[in-house]
Parts: sequence; C-alpha cells; structure tokens
Amino acid sequence: MTSVLGFGGYVPERVMTNADWAEVVDTTDEWITTRTGIKERRFAADDQSTLDLAEEAALVAMKDAGLGPDEIDEIIVATDTPEVYTPDTASLMQDRLGCRNIPTYDLGGSGCAGWIQAIDVARSRIAFEPKRVLVVGVELISRLISWEDRTTAVLFGDGAGAVVMAREGGKAELVDVISGTDGSKADILTLQTGGTRHPFTVESAAAGDHQRLDMDGQAVFREAVRRMSSVTLELLERIGKGIEDVDLLVPHQANKRIIDAVGHKLGIDEDRVFINVDRYGNTGSATVPLGLWEAHAGGQIRDGDLVMLTAFGAGFHWASAALQF
Ligand code: ACO
Repeated sequence: MTSVLGFGGYVPERVMTNADWAEVVDTTDEWITTRTGIKERRFAADDQSTLDLAEEAALVAMKDAGLGPDEIDEIIVATDTPEVYTPDTASLMQDRLGCRNIPTYDLGGSGCAGWIQAIDVARSRIAFEPKRVLVVGVELISRLISWEDRTTAVLFGDGAGAVVMAREGGKAELVDVISGTDGSKADILTLQTGGTRHPFTVESAAAGDHQRLDMDGQAVFREAVRRMSSVTLELLERIGKGIEDVDLLVPHQANKRIIDAVGHKLGIDEDRVFINVDRYGNTGSATVPLGLWEAHAGGQIRDGDLVMLTAFGAGFHWASAALQF
C-alpha cells in the first residue's frame, strides 16, 4: 500500500489579471474568459525562482505530514521550468530543505502530466523500500514564456504543489495510477530551442525562439479531452469503481472548457469537479497537487472520499490516479 501523509501548495502573491495582460498584448478579458475560464493568475516576484516556490509547497506538505527534513528519504520534482539547466531542481531542494544526502531527481519535460507520473514513480520506489518520498510539482512559467505571444502567454501562471508519500498511515491511500504516452504527437505542444537539435545561438536568442512555445491549441484541446476522460474511465474500471463512486475529480487545470468537456464525457456533475483555473491559470505540473491541497485544506475532501486525478501534458502524456481518503 502507498499512502499520502501530507499535502502542500503555494502560489506567489502577485496577481496578474486579464486586464493586466490586455495592457501587454492585444487581448481582452472577454476573449480570455470565454475561451479559457481564466480570470487571473499568480506570477512570481522578481526575486523568486522555481526553488523558492517548490520549497514553500514542500514545507507545507512536510508540516501536514508531521515530518522534518531529516525524515524525508527521497525527493522527486516534476517541472518543465527548472531552477537551472543543470543540475536538477530536486538536488537543490535537498540542500535548501536541509535533508540528508538522499537520492533526488527531476522528472522534467513531461509537462502538465509530470506530477502524476512522478507519484507513480514514487509508488514503485515505496513498494521496493519503505521510503518517505517528497513529490513536488512546480512551475515558474511566467519567466520562460514569451510575453509577446498572446496565443500562449495568457494561459499560464506560477505555482507549486507537493505531497509526502510513504508505505502506510496517512490521510489517503494511492489506490492505483495509469499513465500513457503518444510521442507521435510531440509536435502539438513543444518548445524546440535549447536542446541538441536546435541549440541556442545568438540569432535564435535575438528572435526569441527560446521562449517560443509551439502549440496547436485545437489539437491539444481534442487530445486533452479524449485522453483525460478515457484514462479516468480505464482506471475506475481497473479499481472496480464507477463514476458514481467518485466524490471529487481533480483534473489538470489548463482550461475551463477542457475541464467541462471532460466532465461531460465522464457524466460527472459539476459540483464534483474541482476548479481553480479561474484564479491561477495553468500552472503546468503544479495544477493537480495544488488543487488537491486546496480541496483538502478547504474541506472539499472528507474521510471516505474517492478522489480521481487526471492530467495531460506535452509529450503527449496523460495520466490518472485514484486516491481513497
Ligand atoms: N486574445 C485575443 N485573441 C487571441 C488570443 C488572445 N489571447 N489568442 C489567440 N487569439 C486569436 C487568434 O489569433 C485567432 O485570430 P484569427 O481568427 O484572426 O486568426 C482567434 O483568436 C482564434 O484563435 P484560435 O486558436 O482558433 O482559438 P481557439 O478557439 O482554438 O482558442 C485556445 C484558443 C484557448 C488556446 C484553445 O485552442 C485551447 O484552449 N486549447 C488548449 C490549449 C491548452 O490548454 N494548452 C495547454 C498548454 S500546456 C498543458 O496544459 C499541457
């Protein structure tokens, strides 16, 4: 058995509203609201970086679990916006939190599905050895995207979420996880410049290519709805439950219309679907743990509840997890 001992989350203080974006790019509150459901998002302060956000969420999760840094046995960080290129954000976390010289690693590049993939990895690590694993999802997207591209910039926000997992005890059991990948759809959501195929050059930097997120919005929309709903149903079937047994669905918060379409496909009422995309936008790999923390801390999840998580992300990856509180 794998359990969650504690939940944590953090969003920076600075609020960036749709009206604020309308002063930067050619957009309107009406366009953003009707297409995405996003009203505002949080942006990190100039003196904050990814590690600061991750640390805040981790401290909340560790406190919720009643554990100090010396009691954590492994750290996994899911992020597409790491603190530095090398080394991984997780190794910097180990030092920042004052943990022992435990193994740490990032799960990077798998976009918004990364955190559910990370808890799946943690589950297998815990099955092998009785470890306490800190699993963080964090993004500081506002600093790495193009502030000139209205088609992507307005979608994102900064934030972090975390859990501490262990073999037993705790607040919820991680019943099961299913994830999948279709790498043939890598090109519908990709940032190409900076790797070995397209290394940074003076020309690419001048053109802003390192911040150019290529996104086929409608293809992402279609795949997201299809994959998030089908993987959730597949997992429910595998654990012998139906949609009527689900007390709360915490989906990846990319877009309210995607969430509504997933809810419709699953046949779940709106009041059993968690939403915070209106306040935080798409915080990438952080949306699911952040939502989970908010829902739990805010009393939307009670003992006995079955909570389903589902996400999709660049890759194209998808994943679902079942938590029994
Ligand atoms: N403000 C105003 N107009 C805009 C903006 C904006 N911010 N962005 C694009 N437009 C314009 C376009 O230029 C286009 O104008 P044109 O018709 O003159 O060419 C028009 O609005 C319509 O553009 P579409 O791309 O067709 O708009 P669509 O209805 O598809 O909505 C959106 C775009 C919101 C991106 C939608 O496709 C979507 O939600 N896709 C999913 C994307 C997503 O969630 N990505 C997450 C990324 S990461 C992750 O979570 C895995």
